[in-house]
Amino acid sequence: MGLFASCCILAWVFKCIAYGATIPSRTTLINPENLIPLHLATETLATISDPYPDKPRITFSPDGTFKITVFSDMHWGENPWDAWGPEQDANSTRLMETVLPSEKPDFVVLNGDLITGENAFKDNATLLIDRIVAPLNAAQIPFSSTQGNHDNQKNITHLQEIIREQQVAPLSYTRVAPMGVGGVEGPGNYWVPVYEKASGMSHLLFHQKSDTQREFHIDSTPILILWFFDSRGGFSYGDNSSAIPDWVDESVAAWIESESAAMNDAWGPPENRGALAFVHIPPHIIQKLQADLNSTKEPGLNADILGSGSTQSTTNEANVGQDDAFWNSLNANSPSKRFLISFFADHGDEWCIREPTKNVIFCFDKHAGYGGYGDPSWGYGVRNLVFSSTDPKAGIQTWIRLEEGDIKANVTLNADYT
Ligand SMILES: *[C@@H]1O[C@H](CO)[C@@H](O)[C@H](O)[C@H]1NC(C)=O
Ligand SMILES: *[C@@H]1O[C@H](CO)[C@@H](O)[C@H](O)[C@H]1NC(C)=O
Ligand SMILES: *[C@@H]1O[C@H](CO)[C@@H](O)[C@H](O)[C@H]1NC(C)=O
Ligand SMILES: *[C@@H]1O[C@H](CO)[C@@H](O)[C@H](O)[C@H]1NC(C)=O
Ligand SMILES: *[C@@H]1O[C@H](CO)[C@@H](O)[C@H](O)[C@H]1NC(C)=O
Ligand SMILES: *[C@@H]1O[C@H](CO)[C@@H](O)[C@H](O)[C@H]1NC(C)=O
Repeated sequence: MGLFASCCILAWVFKCIAYGATIPSRTTLINPENLIPLHLATETLATISDPYPDKPRITFSPDGTFKITVFSDMHWGENPWDAWGPEQDANSTRLMETVLPSEKPDFVVLNGDLITGENAFKDNATLLIDRIVAPLNAAQIPFSSTQGNHDNQKNITHLQEIIREQQVAPLSYTRVAPMGVGGVEGPGNYWVPVYEKASGMSHLLFHQKSDTQREFHIDSTPILILWFFDSRGGFSYGDNSSAIPDWVDESVAAWIESESAAMNDAWGPPENRGALAFVHIPPHIIQKLQADLNSTKEPGLNADILGSGSTQSTTNEANVGQDDAFWNSLNANSPSKRFLISFFADHGDEWCIREPTKNVIFCFDKHAGYGGYGDPSWGYGVRNLVFSSTDPKAGIQTWIRLEEGDIKANVTLNADYT
């Protein structure tokens, strides 16, 4: 049921900009007396081009790859009054502290159900966020999060978790959508630009009056956009707690469209960059594909039957189809159909599959937390995703890594995948 809804990632294989010659550091090129304003809607462009003016750019590695490690369903704070709850949390920290130094990801995603909100206390629930992000702070790895159905409960909300994360994690890239976007208790809709290189100015307001203009443009254009969506669910805050819709709100559809239009204005057509989306509860359309899984082509644990509550808008049958507005907009505004890939997750599912009507590949994550339902035989671990910017057709390499280091379900997601 809804209590145990999953977590997912959707992704598109991206088309990238090939590596050019080494571009000298901007600070050595820019002479302030030589700066002229760009003939652009500067305010919009500045905002769209760098939503993180005070943080380091997220970039591909010098070897041309970009690795994301996804920790999903950490379920912190379960039964803190028992011995086993805190022991689970200690185990989850151990898992993070084992995986992070060995995988050395360029970016980490916490894909929902950070906290088992039903067991949280009003006075101290957000302190759990401090513990969750501690290994990321220590390792100084940039990250961002989605929130899940367990993160909206009587004593905790998505917004409270996001605010706390922003306060205590200097390298958190989690944001909230503008007011009015996301619906009730669904603020966590945003995107993070990923650049080829760290060099270059983070603001696009000026360029040098010289032939460096082209270089500057390349340097200031992301090659990959990570999208994050809030699939809500769970229960509202406070004494009169009631069920919250379990889908990405319709208002997000128009927001995706306007953000995409602004990106196109600033950076050119969507084919210039890749896109990868993370959402906690998978869109409903994934559900019917499970019946035809082929464990050779689509390897990975398949122990959770998708049903009511484990895909969007299904805890109440009357709501089926409510996630269509979001899903259609996301696909309509996504990059090149040719390389359309996509992704997702339930605690007991690990597979990736192509959804034929939108031609998108979904992948389930791996249950990373010792909290939450599951079976110890499933193991605990992460999904890794590696992009190669030098060969877009190579797609994304992705696999499940268990805490102990074992590799499972390693597949290449590209135009040929299934
Ligand atoms: C914590 O991890 C240890 C070692 O894997 C395991 O034996 C133990 O059952 C785990 N405890 C809980 C509460 O998950
Ligand atoms: C919520 O927090 C309050 C105050 O800390 C606590 O008394 C209560 O047991 C918590 N849980 C629920 C489900 O209300
Ligand atoms: C919150 O308070 C409860 C009740 O005192 C306690 O059991 C729990 O461990 C506390 N949680 C945190 C994160 O401090
Ligand atoms: C909660 O619901 C009860 C019963 O419907 C009502 O009397 C009370 O005013 C409500 N409290 C809040 C804070 O809305
Ligand atoms: C499953 O996939 C494998 C590898 O592509 C293929 O050889 C096999 O025929 C497929 N099985 C079914 C039942 O389609
Ligand atoms: C996954 O498979 C690819 C292609 O076979 C291989 O190159 C890569 O090393 C594998 N990755 C891991 C982590 O085993």
